[in-house]
Amino acid sequence: MRHEVIEKSVNLMMVLIVIAISIGGLVEIIPLMMSADATEPDENIVPYSALRLAGRDVYVREGCYNCHSQMIRPFRSETERYGPYTTAGETVYDRPFQFGSKRTGPDLARVGGRYSDEWQRLHLIDPRALVPESNMPGYPWLSSRKIDPELVTRKLKALRLLGDPYTDEQIASAAADVDGKTEMDAVIAYLQELGTNRRARR
Ligand code: HEC
Repeated sequence: MRHEVIEKSVNLMMVLIVIAISIGGLVEIIPLMMSADATEPDENIVPYSALRLAGRDVYVREGCYNCHSQMIRPFRSETERYGPYTTAGETVYDRPFQFGSKRTGPDLARVGGRYSDEWQRLHLIDPRALVPESNMPGYPWLSSRKIDPELVTRKLKALRLLGDPYTDEQIASAAADVDGKTEMDAVIAYLQELGTNRRARR
């Protein structure tokens, strides 16, 4: 009988649905906010250096995440192929994280150090020069575009406001770290570090 009252009143039904969903949501979210596993960096995980941060932004701008995930799932088929599975604690400095789900190309979460810098450079300029069957687009323009040192410094400062533990020295030297570097240098520095901190823990 009482249920019929609810079913016949759209407004009451909506209010009750919102309450029910909120409880479900809070039960899922609050424990995560308190759990150090999800909010504290894993051992060895530090904020991105100025050059890598710039490279990460190029990665996002170029939409590399449309074809590459950075999230190794805890299944044997994944860990055998890519390495140890991804944890929340290794991505705390990723804003936004690059987990992704579309894998036109392989997962990149542990690609750091797998190839030489020179391989990465040639591959980004013309993927088919190295992997003839590849359908990855080339990004030759990255070689001629320079990183803006002033902008990188501002990004580091903004991230520090959000809680990333950059030191005054890191911020002071950020501009010099990226001075004269191209977007290609930055993306390669970013790729070459992916997963290397995590792997050191094994
Ligand atoms: C249209 C889909 C697509 C996009 C966009 C794309 N890739 Fe790829 N990528 C692939 C495919 C497919 C492969 C596997 C074949 C090859 O090595 O070229 C690959 C391979 C790679 C590899 C080698 C991975 C390994 O473990 O062998 C790296 C590194 C890489 N891509 C980086 C990038 C970066 C950086 C960008 C953005 C600037 C990017 N990709 C954009 C499809 C893509």
